[in-house]
Amino acid sequence: MGSTKDTIPDGLSRGSPAGILTRGQNFRLPPASPSAGSARFGMNYKIAHRAASLSPSLTLAIDSKAKQMKAEGHDVVGFGAGEPDFDTPQHIKDAAAQALTAGFTKYTPSSGIPELRLAIAQKFERENGLKYDPSQIIVSNGGKHSCYNVILATCQEGDEVIIPSPYWLSYPEMVKLAGATPVILPTTDATEFKVTPEQLKSAITPNTRLFILNSPSNPTGSVYTPAELRVLADLCVERGVLIMSDEIYEHLLYDGAVHQSVASFGPRHFEHTIIVHGFAKAWSMTGWRLGFLAAPKPIAAAIDAVQSHSTSNPCSFAQKGGVAALNGPQDHLPVWLAEYSKRRRYAWERLNAMPGITCVNAKGAFYLFPNITGTGLKSRDFCARLLEQEKVAAVPGIAFGADDFIRLSYATSLANIEKGLDRMEKFVKNLK
Ligand SMILES: Cc1ncc(COP(=O)(O)O)c(C=O)c1O
Repeated sequence: MGSTKDTIPDGLSRGSPAGILTRGQNFRLPPASPSAGSARFGMNYKIAHRAASLSPSLTLAIDSKAKQMKAEGHDVVGFGAGEPDFDTPQHIKDAAAQALTAGFTKYTPSSGIPELRLAIAQKFERENGLKYDPSQIIVSNGGKHSCYNVILATCQEGDEVIIPSPYWLSYPEMVKLAGATPVILPTTDATEFKVTPEQLKSAITPNTRLFILNSPSNPTGSVYTPAELRVLADLCVERGVLIMSDEIYEHLLYDGAVHQSVASFGPRHFEHTIIVHGFAKAWSMTGWRLGFLAAPKPIAAAIDAVQSHSTSNPCSFAQKGGVAALNGPQDHLPVWLAEYSKRRRYAWERLNAMPGITCVNAKGAFYLFPNITGTGLKSRDFCARLLEQEKVAAVPGIAFGADDFIRLSYATSLANIEKGLDRMEKFVKNLK
């Protein structure tokens, strides 16, 4: 493509910078047509492949269906939510409210305010023993946005991305949006939904660009031990594969489980890892849309560029709330964890007592992922009938690549859990 403009017949002209088509002087809008611009007139909208091939988020769909039924007066018990039922701690809300009142309402640097990037770098040093320069931290509009940024900045056509299943449902769709190919490694409850080193080894090819790791996991609640993680991370390092480590549930651990970031195994592991994190789960800030990542410098710079041209900065005053979340007291956490753990144990025992259901006990996050094989139903049918007949909302495992399972979130009160499981028990007992 030349740097001088060479006008092409329809008035499009090519100009610098390379790869961009510029409209020439003689460009004209196409003549108005009575059929143009509206489906009312029979317009056949062409949807780009990248969007047309996506499946909409089933978790959000179930959640809104349950909310709609509730609004219509049905007594629905919701196990679908992927968010804490606790409120954001008051000091975090106060910090954001004060910032808003003080007029902190303008654009900020695209990758976040220096104060928050520093607080995040300090969190990684304090809690994970990782030394990041604040320039390696990017603050985004939620952990989901951080994941998408990572995948967009590192993967393209021809690249393969290894994703253990059951997976958080957005990963494969994001990989497809980036033009790359998801390579799914199935796991089952027999291995507590953990991928084995042999599986990973045989899935890596010269095209493998990224391995997506999510511990503690959504949807299974499974937590890898540090020793298990080390073997997987070593394999990636040996084969030059980047790891996107989604650690958003890092603080939600039970039964003595520990979290270790794969980035902390050594300098080479650090160089091969991008950590994704966010404020949604441990500080109950789902609606604030605030997430972050830490990456090797060249990757952070690439993501900085992507974000600067797509969303710009996350909400200014929400970022002040983020600073308070990281630097302020953390005393809400043990209280939440004690409550989650009580609910988890109760639900796990009840599920295992139901005919046709078995459930491994999860060590992290706020989900249980029971196996429904013994009921003779696949997950979509199971969940549709459970909602229809008993007004209990759960998410079909097929959304996470595991059709013999359903996901139950226990981020709801013990009273609700009891009521929902009573109904579910009645439902499975009535199945022949
Ligand atoms: C594994 C995992 N990663 C990332 C996210 C993104 O969270 P958010 O975009 O709300 O910060 C979620 C939310 O459910 C999640 O479960």
